[in-house]
Amino acid sequence: MNTLDATLTEAAEADRAAFRAGPVDEQSRSRLAANGLDYRRVSVDGDDYPGWLQSVARGFQDGERSAEQIAASRERSGYRRLTGVYDPQAPVADAPVATIASWLSELTVPGDATVPSCAISAVTVAPTHRRRGVARAMLEGELRAAHAAGAPMAMLTVSESPLYGRYGFAPAAAAASWRIETKRATWIGPRPDGRVDFIPRERVREVMPAVHERVRRSAPGEIQVPGSHWDGFAGTNPAAEKTTEKRAVQYTDTAGEVRGAAVYAVREHDEDFTKGTVTVHYLVAETRDAYAALWRFLLELDLVAEVRAGELSVDEPLLWMIADQRAAKVTVSDHQYVRVLDVPAALESRRFGAAGRLLLDVSDPIGIAGGRYLLEADASGTGRVRALGDGESADADAEVALGIAELSAVYLGGVSPATLAAAGRLTATDEAAATRVLSWHIAPRLSIWY
Ligand SMILES: CC(C)(COP(=O)(O)OP(=O)(O)OC[C@H]1O[C@@H](n2cnc3c(N)ncnc32)[C@H](O)[C@@H]1OP(=O)(O)O)[C@@H](O)C(=O)NCCC(=O)NCCS
Repeated sequence: MNTLDATLTEAAEADRAAFRAGPVDEQSRSRLAANGLDYRRVSVDGDDYPGWLQSVARGFQDGERSAEQIAASRERSGYRRLTGVYDPQAPVADAPVATIASWLSELTVPGDATVPSCAISAVTVAPTHRRRGVARAMLEGELRAAHAAGAPMAMLTVSESPLYGRYGFAPAAAAASWRIETKRATWIGPRPDGRVDFIPRERVREVMPAVHERVRRSAPGEIQVPGSHWDGFAGTNPAAEKTTEKRAVQYTDTAGEVRGAAVYAVREHDEDFTKGTVTVHYLVAETRDAYAALWRFLLELDLVAEVRAGELSVDEPLLWMIADQRAAKVTVSDHQYVRVLDVPAALESRRFGAAGRLLLDVSDPIGIAGGRYLLEADASGTGRVRALGDGESADADAEVALGIAELSAVYLGGVSPATLAAAGRLTATDEAAATRVLSWHIAPRLSIWY
């Protein structure tokens, strides 16, 4: 599968294909070559793919991939640009000592809009080659390649929080993990008239992508979900394990339209059969009724004492659908990291909370997007951005001095300039004015890892 979206225009698909096939960044290639390492592209259809995939698995401390898993992964990875770093001196020279994958996708931004964004994944460096600057060379290389391909943003989810700030990334959409004591929660939310029905997992593979495609553009922080992820949630990847534990339901409204679905698994309690635990693998709903009906179904399952769910919004309506909010233990952590690569294009793609003029003085440690910019947002929330020339001044409601990571942190509206100012992360001549313009009324979220 080489495309993330069947509705993509031919031009957009051509841009993505060109990025997939494009060369590695020359600056990083020569830096690694000076250390005896070969930085090169890997073909998903070629002989080098199995070695690349094995190195990714090893990099994440996972086991060896079977031939069946390699074949399934190959079939689902056509949308990715793959790169490896090879050490010609190593005994197994065809297994890269470092890996990275990237692809052009869409990131939803405030205002029911999206911006092209380069997703980065599979970042590994072998323990034998760590702390020699290999990851830095790859990350900087992919960011320059994405910028050269015209992507205004880059994005990733992370294994460890401290890794990516140095490249200008910031956590921009947090994720909430819930553990709900079901006996205590007590449903007080709506009881919609539609119906909830069990469906086979193959049907999930059809329903979930279709519903997600209809809702993702109004949820800042969400991205186009690769097909392989849906196979993962549905358990329809032939190489996946424990798929038979999964149960799936869909919600159909009174007009007969399917409006949402959920996949979950139940784990039995060792000693008490009435105290099972439900893990919600994915829940997607395009209407309020579907959301309420699916969550009510999960919270009212018999023989279950606890429901667990992750990658939820920090502002879930669910909290207001249960009588006892203390029945829910909610843990919040950093999740979707983003990085502005092109300040005017990124800012003009989103909408703003209020009219105003901000002079943004942006520093960028990698030298991709720094500069002084004038942002003018009108009363409809539409923004225009202009790069200011050397020494050029402009009237503004606030002058904001910030790093590219801080601009990336506020980009989706997940944190305000006032909070970052209080944390000593930026300065603004008028924090309230900057906050009014850059804030947004919907908490950003991301429902997957990638
Ligand atoms: C994380 C990982 C990719 C780093 O690779 P590396 O080649 O050792 O990193 P580099 O030598 O290029 O280090 C780059 C910078 O990151 C820092 N760094 C690297 N690993 C770090 C860690 N685990 N925690 C904090 N900082 C780290 C380095 O100190 C260095 O800082 P500086 O350049 O600002 O001085 C590698 O350790 C790894 O593969 N880990 C397991 C897989 C993983 O977690 N991948 C990330 C997926 S999101």
